[in-house]
Amino acid sequence: MCGIVAYIGEKEAYPLLIKGLKRLEYRGYDSAGVALLNGDVNVYKKKGKVQELVNHAQGAKKNGTLGIGHTRWATHGAPDDLNAHPHVSGDGRLALVHNGIIENYALLKKALEKEGHVFHSETDTEVLVHLIEEIQNRDNLPLEEAIRIALTRVVGAYAIVVLDKNDPNKLVAARKASPLVIGIGENEFFLASDATPIIEHTKKVIYLNDEEIAVVRRSGSYDIRTINNEVQAPFIHELDMKIEMLEKGGYDYFMLKEIHEQPTTISDCMRGRLNADEGWIMLGGLEEHVNRITKAKRIIIAACGTSWHAGLIAEYLIEDLARLPVEVEYASELRYRNPIITEDDVVIAISQSGETADTLAALELAKEKGALIYGIVNVVGSSIARITDAGSYIHAGPEIGVASTKAFTGQVTLLTMMALSLAHKRGTISTSYFQQLLNEMSNIPKKVEKVLESNKKIEYIAQEIKDKPNALYLGRGYNFPIALEGALKLKEISYIHAEGYPAAEMKHGPIALIDEEMPVIVIATNKSAYDKIASNIQEVKARKGLVIAVVTEGDEVISQIADYTIEIPDTEEPFTPLLSVIPLQLLSYHIALMRDCNVDQPRNLAKSVTVE
Ligand code: AGP
Ligand code: GLU
Repeated sequence: MCGIVAYIGEKEAYPLLIKGLKRLEYRGYDSAGVALLNGDVNVYKKKGKVQELVNHAQGAKKNGTLGIGHTRWATHGAPDDLNAHPHVSGDGRLALVHNGIIENYALLKKALEKEGHVFHSETDTEVLVHLIEEIQNRDNLPLEEAIRIALTRVVGAYAIVVLDKNDPNKLVAARKASPLVIGIGENEFFLASDATPIIEHTKKVIYLNDEEIAVVRRSGSYDIRTINNEVQAPFIHELDMKIEMLEKGGYDYFMLKEIHEQPTTISDCMRGRLNADEGWIMLGGLEEHVNRITKAKRIIIAACGTSWHAGLIAEYLIEDLARLPVEVEYASELRYRNPIITEDDVVIAISQSGETADTLAALELAKEKGALIYGIVNVVGSSIARITDAGSYIHAGPEIGVASTKAFTGQVTLLTMMALSLAHKRGTISTSYFQQLLNEMSNIPKKVEKVLESNKKIEYIAQEIKDKPNALYLGRGYNFPIALEGALKLKEISYIHAEGYPAAEMKHGPIALIDEEMPVIVIATNKSAYDKIASNIQEVKARKGLVIAVVTEGDEVISQIADYTIEIPDTEEPFTPLLSVIPLQLLSYHIALMRDCNVDQPRNLAKSVTVE
């Protein structure tokens, strides 16, 4: 959670920091703040979006070629002006921005209060800057050494950047379990939570590793040490990202842009990996460990939120096609329940950001237990991508809308290819069926394009739901996870309470909720369960529920019973989720817009959840 950006160089820092914070705003938007060094340390911070900060700082002194900035997702203390970052040491010498949680802050705070420190916020972060100050002043230490010692006393997760009024020629940064990237320019450095604020200035970056401390200097020199004071030789990566990817490109919202990008992102995900004409699928990460994966006793999938829904689809795909047992776990549960994981297991983590704290921790646990760990990640160079034994990027490009759309279809595309490849290698499907599936999979981007043409109709249907307090989503088989995902999308961005259920489970409880006020969105495309789902719809109609059905083109039965239908092209059953999720994304988008909600930055949420 939260975005950090910092600059040291020859240019004015403030405009660079503001632009960077706007790019990072999707990570948290409870408050924003900057500290600028120019003789004095000038701190401006404000509750709310970065624009509030800009208004607040209008007319104030904002010059300086060194500065740090933060956009917050509150963990400790209300989202208000006082708790906003940067936080400043008691003597006003140090300013610090922090992403993460200092778990032992209460103990540290008590000890520091005894030494006379006075705190002005409720945050865990303020304790850290006072701790550094205390250590620095006690032995007159250079900033980086004081930080190093302070961090040995800290329990928790952090990415921090600190400036020191008495040393205007350097910035010091450190990380543990929260991301931090260093951008290396010409006589300038950028530090940020991800590469989005850096890309327009330089393509050369270093991803800081856990428990590393970096010093970047105005002179252009830098060094990186571990918390144990061992000098590191960092690897400089070349960023492969274009600035247009970070802009709205004519759309009103990133979410809408990202929904419409899906035909392209799905084909980008398949490019070079699936060739229907030549009849092959090749996933680099899988090939590297082909024996271990095809012979695995069990595949365990760990993920959170939307990525967990993609995992659930993978369970259907891999078990159905490749006949390998799959368990799908919420990463946060897996890690705390003393799970049975052995060397014969393969643990797959699915994550858009590659930084989700729970998913990372679950992977670390699986690694300790000797399982092969595999990452399916969007953000290149992210923590999950770096700790896994093998993996595959989904290549969806930066996803800025907090509600995940194109990353989800990218994950499902990747997992579908994985299931097909495993099935082929294990001989659990015939060559002709394999070929048939390959042919159809290459048609999916075009079919997604076709679904997007229903946008107007979906907008019309959204009118029917926009004022309802609740909604129910039903699906069976491959479309059950899509029901969950549809409900999550609606909750997240329109704040309408929604539940997803396997359609047949409705009669075991949720049916009691149905009356004329309850919209029921049914994904009714499955060939194998078509008649059953038609009966479920009859059950809803018998109780006067409003039915919106996602059906296959040319449907004649369900479209007669449902109040509204949205058609999607016919496809092979395992690929249905890639099409059926699209109308549900659009439906939530339109409903949220009609309810005046901030589609890209829904309340209380953040894009990258780097706290437990
Ligand atoms: C998706 O719309 C959500 N914002 C959220 O559930 C998300 O999928 C979850 O936090 C996992 O994130 P990750 O994919 O970056 O690990
Ligand atoms: N724990 C800190 C706070 O509540 C930092 C949260 C963040 O990562 O934004 O302010």
